[in-house]
Amino acid sequence: MDYRDIILHPATVHVPIGAIVAAACFVFYGWYRRLSHIEQSGYYLVIFGWVALIPSLISGTIDAVNRLSDPHTPSNALTWINIHAASGIGVFGVTWLAWQLRRRMMGIVWTHPRYHLFLGYMAIVLLLIICSGWSGGHMVYTLQLGRLR
Ligand code: HEM
Repeated sequence: MDYRDIILHPATVHVPIGAIVAAACFVFYGWYRRLSHIEQSGYYLVIFGWVALIPSLISGTIDAVNRLSDPHTPSNALTWINIHAASGIGVFGVTWLAWQLRRRMMGIVWTHPRYHLFLGYMAIVLLLIICSGWSGGHMVYTLQLGRLR
């Protein structure tokens, strides 16, 4: 075992995935049923999910450098790492946009003229986090990236 076998990334990705998927579910359900307290809980999870993404982005970058310098890494890994990193960075950016838009809305938020834009951001965030998690799983379980030998 050497330093490249210390895998930080898988330990940090599950909290933001859970928070962001829950955020989208709470926001859409709260909006659909017009339940402010549920929608508001989803908004707080947006903020928590964005903060929780920071360690996963840092550890992912460290792991990617380690995998790419490892001679056992398959040649097509770079393409998958790029797809995976782009969706992860995209989640971070669009979650930020959703947070900044929603925090300016007061009262009955769905009456706000830009509330549908916030819902659009949340739909994109949900698609990107699914893409990021799925591509990460593909790299680990199909390409065998980051598995201890
Ligand atoms: C700069 C951004 C990122 C890079 C470069 C990156 C890179 C990697 C790499 C190289 C792996 C293979 C396993 C390893 O060596 O650790 C991996 C796995 C994974 N990544 Fe990322 N990642 C990034 C962001 C994210 C984000 C934001 C998420 C979701 C919050 C995520 C979710 C996952 C998942 C679920 C796995 C599979 C872990 C497992 O089941 O063992 N990644 N990532």
